[in-house]
Amino acid sequence: VTRPSSGAPAALSPAGGTQLADPSVYTQGVPHAEFARLRREAPVSWVSEPLLRRHIDGRSTLSRGSGFWAVTSYRAVTEVLRSPNRFSSAAKGAFLVDPVSPQDLERNRQLLINMDDPAHAHLRQFVMASFTPRAVQRMRQSVATHAAAVVEAARGRDFDIVRDIAAELPLLVLTDLLGIPRADRKLLLDWSNNLVGFDDPQFGGGDVGRFRETFVQAYRYVIELAEERRRRPADDLLSALLTREVDGRHLSDLQLCQLWVLLVVAGNETTRNLISGALEILLERPPQLRRVVADGDAVPAAAEEALRWVTPIMQFRRTATEDTVLDGQVISAGDKVVVYFISANRDESVFDRGDEFEVSRSPNPHLAFGTGPHFCLGAHLARLEAAATLDALRPYLQRLELTGPVTRLASNFMNGTKSMPARFN
Ligand code: HEM
Repeated sequence: VTRPSSGAPAALSPAGGTQLADPSVYTQGVPHAEFARLRREAPVSWVSEPLLRRHIDGRSTLSRGSGFWAVTSYRAVTEVLRSPNRFSSAAKGAFLVDPVSPQDLERNRQLLINMDDPAHAHLRQFVMASFTPRAVQRMRQSVATHAAAVVEAARGRDFDIVRDIAAELPLLVLTDLLGIPRADRKLLLDWSNNLVGFDDPQFGGGDVGRFRETFVQAYRYVIELAEERRRRPADDLLSALLTREVDGRHLSDLQLCQLWVLLVVAGNETTRNLISGALEILLERPPQLRRVVADGDAVPAAAEEALRWVTPIMQFRRTATEDTVLDGQVISAGDKVVVYFISANRDESVFDRGDEFEVSRSPNPHLAFGTGPHFCLGAHLARLEAAATLDALRPYLQRLELTGPVTRLASNFMNGTKSMPARFN
């Protein structure tokens, strides 16, 4: 298959159109049947992008992305992520949506996630020390305490699993980690909703102005906080970022702001949707739920299986730096390449009965945190938070029931739930 020239009608696309890239499709659930078909028939296949409405400076425009190679098999996803020289994060950034101008691209490239080595490796070193297994282990007690408090607060009333448990815990943990007042977690929530929920009418609504304004607000916040920490350092990540030196260099103010916002967003929605998705599938599969309830030792593997099953971040983007071949498919230099973790994590050639949720699955080499040089920095922390939530809920899990419909985020990036009304009966 060769890539259709740009502007080719969607009907030419071997992936059968724009479904994978259309945020609204995901409000009905992840199109797993389509992913399974692609893995079988064309694990590297061209997808055209839908027309999406954007609002900018009071004007409403329709725009269409360039189209991309959808990479859906475990083997090909792994190959792309472990070949950063052929598949760059910096060329056009790591997000599916194309930068709108050279300035936009330049701005994006300041973010860790949108960099290639050596700049990427240099910046990553500033944050790595705060996320080692040992550093995260030190947070175990406080995470457990937060999880217990969050569950306790939900008991005896109608509540929303997403708002009151899944969103609340990562926010509390982030306030500790970043060293900000608890009350300001509402700001963190709004910022990350606006950024990650860009395409959802309830949040970003495709409003570019609101998107940019969110960055401005968040940067202003961290600049003020940094001034305070310079005067009075504390035992938190921000103070560490201010004082740490790598190769004799400190972070610039801009780098600091960008890292901080990345951590706020990366540490927030991802873990939220892991927790809400884990609870949703456990409620749908009572025998699996009972195994978690019966055996506390089952919790870490259950959290791992939830990571595979939910895959909160469904995809990231790379750009081919040269003409190349991926799983037999010719790819041209400059082409957009999108790796679907969500599909790789159900690849039947790696996961036996991959479309079944199995709490004690072992081995479980899922790619929910990616692989290669950009492997998720928060992996240990996210695992800890998911396990702490299940531990805190275990005594009540069999009495947990949904009382209303689960609603989903309109996003082709985050496998997100917006609302899950529930109670303990
Ligand atoms: C269930 C929860 C999470 C999931 C599924 C997840 C997933 C991912 C994935 C797939 C990547 C790779 C990006 C790429 O290859 O381009 C990534 C990178 C990253 N994650 Fe996470 N993440 C989670 C939680 C967290 C948390 C809690 C934090 C921090 C508080 C965090 C911080 C980061 C950072 C800073 C990067 C960029 C690393 C780099 O570019 O070198 N993540 N994450």
